[in-house]
Amino acid sequence: MSDLVTKVDEVRRRVDEARGRGLRIGLVPTMGALHTGHLRLMRECRSRAGFVVASIFVNPTQFGPTEDFTKYPRTLDQDRLACETAGVDLVFAPEPEEIYPNGPNSSFVEVPALSGILEGATRLGHFRGVATVVLKLFEIVRADVAVFGQKDYQQQLLIRRMVDDLRVPIEIVSMATVREPDGLAMSSRNRYLSPGERQSATCLVKALSAAKELVGRGERDASRIRQILAETVESVPGVKLDYAEVADSRTLARLERLESGCDAVALLAAWVGTTRLIDNAILTE
Ligand code: PAJ
Repeated sequence: MSDLVTKVDEVRRRVDEARGRGLRIGLVPTMGALHTGHLRLMRECRSRAGFVVASIFVNPTQFGPTEDFTKYPRTLDQDRLACETAGVDLVFAPEPEEIYPNGPNSSFVEVPALSGILEGATRLGHFRGVATVVLKLFEIVRADVAVFGQKDYQQQLLIRRMVDDLRVPIEIVSMATVREPDGLAMSSRNRYLSPGERQSATCLVKALSAAKELVGRGERDASRIRQILAETVESVPGVKLDYAEVADSRTLARLERLESGCDAVALLAAWVGTTRLIDNAILTE
């Protein structure tokens, strides 16, 4: 099992010691319930750093009042074993009081350019919680490099923006989405799905494939692409679309047309029963 640390001072001590040995420090922030997608990020981090810290913290401030904070899966012992196999040196799994000593909203970070749209429009306050906890983790670990997944496309863009705006001295690496054999994006929330819902959930990746195919056949009208995304998701009983967007891959500004020189990303969020899932794909590769 990877070593477990729960206190900020102890992480700092262990990281300082590693840095003293001349090692580059890597960080992979997670909320646990680890799957192969998380482990891929950790292995990538391992290849870029001599000392890898994985944080496991179900961050209360990024969950809305009606969201799944209390039922979010917590599997720390299993996670520590998985971290070991992925080459993680230290697991940092703090209690909320350690991260928020003066309460959750005493100080926070906002990235307004990217926090109010898409995920941020449905999940009010979500990205304030994400940006704040990630900046705290960067400050605690003082990593040279941190690895994030493109599965949460808006999140990794927002973190890049925050790091750029606040001049945080850290390299951000983004990794491709790891999928199940049938294409479903791996997610800790997939465990909530019943067998029937698990089947229905493949409509997200099917919609993205249909959109890519349409673009491959020459379609440039973004509203036509949004339409195929929405129709594919909504055709499945028990699935409710939240949003289907086609946006500039760097700014997330809504596109009317796919123009050469500008990469487009398709972004989807849908409820499968009571479980909210997201997925995305770059359309113009
Ligand atoms: P969590 O959902 O646990 O995800 C941790 C990291 O794993 C994120 O960077 C996420 O994008 C990545 N990830 C999740 N599923 C993936 C997949 N199928 N393939 C590749 N990478 C995947 O995202 C969070 O936690 C939190 O918001 C966090 C950044 C830790 C802040 O609390």
